[in-house]
Order: sequence, then structure tokens, then C-alpha cells
Amino acid sequence: MTFRLTRVLPPDDTAAALCADVLYGLTRTPKTLPPKWLYDAHGSELFEQITQLPTYPVGRAELGLLLLHARDIAEQTGACSLIELGSGSSQKTRLLLDALPGLHTYVPVDVSESALRQAGQTLLIERPALSVHALIADFTGALTLPQTPGPRLVAFLGSTIGNLLPAERATFLTSVRALLAPGDTLLLGTDLVKDESVLVAAYDDALTAKFNKNVLAVINRELGADFDPDAFAHVALWDAGHEWIEMRLRSLTEQTVKIPALGLAVDFADGEDLRTEISAKFRKQGLRRELAAAGLTVEHVWTSPGQGYGLALAAPSRGGTRTEHATSGSTGLQATGLPS
Ligand code: SAH
Ligand code: AVI
Repeated sequence: MTFRLTRVLPPDDTAAALCADVLYGLTRTPKTLPPKWLYDAHGSELFEQITQLPTYPVGRAELGLLLLHARDIAEQTGACSLIELGSGSSQKTRLLLDALPGLHTYVPVDVSESALRQAGQTLLIERPALSVHALIADFTGALTLPQTPGPRLVAFLGSTIGNLLPAERATFLTSVRALLAPGDTLLLGTDLVKDESVLVAAYDDALTAKFNKNVLAVINRELGADFDPDAFAHVALWDAGHEWIEMRLRSLTEQTVKIPALGLAVDFADGEDLRTEISAKFRKQGLRRELAAAGLTVEHVWTSPGQGYGLALAAPSRGGTRTEHATSGSTGLQATGLPS
């Protein structure tokens, strides 16, 4: 097997993006930060621990569906290349890797270098015949993928799509659509709307609080800020109108946080919230509509026994527009540029 790791963006780009996001998000009302900054090495580790919590059913539900249906997915896609966005530990992906007999290349894509390296090291031992080309990249930005043999299956698991705002989701899905040639497919994992108490319990525990507060440690380390994590409370609430969970950090006191790298002092009122993540929950019909709007037709949805989780397989809609391996715009994904 070969393992390659490519940083799609120069390292200082990440720092510049963090500066821009912190400056924008902490100087507006309400204060917000994009969830991708939760995932440094420690954040990625904490997320893996969260997936083991009995109250967090997402990973287990998806694992159950893959155990039952990886073979069907393999048959329906016949994929020779698997591209996985937000791949994390690639743990559940192994079921797909095993089920796809003709798989040539696996392209895990993540902002977390540590997660990619760890997954790569394990795959190196476990899957000697597989070619792995990992990309450190932001899937919401311009993404250059290596040329790999088709048909290609793009997997976006774990309901990570729920961490994008509706407008971001629309842009993202359109970009994914632009990557797909006829015969290629998208496998999308989505957590479904369910009882509010079950949803909130999945985000309202000490470990998730640690994960949430980790973003403050990231800003302290990278930008020299002086956030005191103990001066913020972890908040998880269900927004019934938007049908999403919000993770917030609530200031326990009136305080000013200094961020020297930005020459910025940020005031927090007592009780003021900083939104660190949304986690949208889906309904099958809404999901079909969103995919259709991006030029993708759902071919199959597998749902977990309690209907709490869905895995959708979608393909480019007939008659939809597609530019052969063309860039889909400045915030889109792109299918050329890197050797395989
Ligand atoms: N797919 C895995 C991991 C889900 S956690 C699973 O189902 O268990 C979400 C993953 O997406 C993390 O590994 C995180 O580092 C990555 N991620 C979050 N935002 C990202 C972005 N904008 N671009 C690329 N990766 C991102
Ligand atoms: C990765 N993502 C889908 C997780 C979620 O459920 O929204 C991240 C997470 N946040 C808190 N717990 C887990």
C-alpha cells in the first residue's frame, strides 16, 4: 500500500483562516465560530470519545447501517475510488473499504492532520493493497482532489453535513455535485429529527462540554488569547424552528478576553453566548429536496431501526448540468490538479 499526505493549503493559510473567523465571529452579535476549529488533535480525540457515549447514538446508528448494508452500497456504486469528506478516524469507513472489491484508492479529507495520520498509519498495516492519498483540506473551501479511477463514491458520514448552515449546505452539495461524473455517487449520513430529550441528551454531558471548550484552548494556543475555559458554561439546546442543536459557550460573568494576535479585546456580557456549532437534524423529504436542488437524486435511503438515522445514496440527476472535472467556483470543490 502507499500512503500519501497532501496539505492542500499552505500551513499559514490555516492560521490566516482562524484569524479571519475569530475576528469576524467574535466582533458580531450574536458571537459565533465555525465548528471546524473544535478539531485540533485533542478535539479529534475528544470527538472519538464522544462517539462511545451511550447518549450519543449517531456513530453507532451509522455503524449498524454500514454493517447491514455496506455490501448493497458496494454493489450499487461499484466504486473504484472512495473519497471521504471529514473522514476523522476512518473507523466506520473500513466496512466500505472491505465491501468494495474493486477499490483502488481511498482519499480521506479532513482539517485534522492528526486524525489523517493516525487513520493512515492503521490502514497501512491493515490494508496492504490499498492506495491512500490523504488530504488536509477544508471541505467548505476550494478543494483539489487527485485524479483517481472511476466510478467514484464520495462519502460524507457521521451527519457532519448537519454542522453546516442551510446556505452553506446548499453551496457544499452543489460543489460535491460538480465533482461527480455519470456513474459516480454520494453516500450521505444524516441524523434524523427525533424526540427533543434524546437529541439534547446527546450533546449535554461533561465530555461534550470539554470538546466544546476545546475551541477556547485552540484560540489561546494559536492566537495567544487568554480565554479562561472555567469562565464559560457549556450549553446544548434544541432550536425547534430550525430543527438543529446549538452548542454554545455561555459567559459566566462580565469579562474581557484579549487576543494579542489580532490586537483585539472582546467583551462578553454576563450570560452572553458564543455559538460554536449547529448540528442540524433532518427529515427524509427535506433531505431529498436539498439534494435535488443541488442536482442530486436520492437512489436509496437506509434507515436505522428506530428511524433515528439515515444513510442516503444519491447520484447526479439526469439532465442536470455538469462540467467535466471543472472547478465549481471559488468556494467549490475541484477534481483536478493533484496527481493520484
Ligand atoms: N466521519 C467521521 C468523523 C466525524 S467528526 C465519523 O463519522 O465518525 C467530523 C470530522 O470532520 C472531524 O474529523 C473534523 O476534523 C472534520 N471537519 C470538520 N469541519 C471540517 C471542514 N470544514 N473541512 C474538513 N474537515 C472538517
Ligand atoms: C461531527 N458532528 C456531526 C458531530 C455532531 O453531532 O454534530 C460533532 C459533535 N458535536 C458535539 N458532539 C458531537
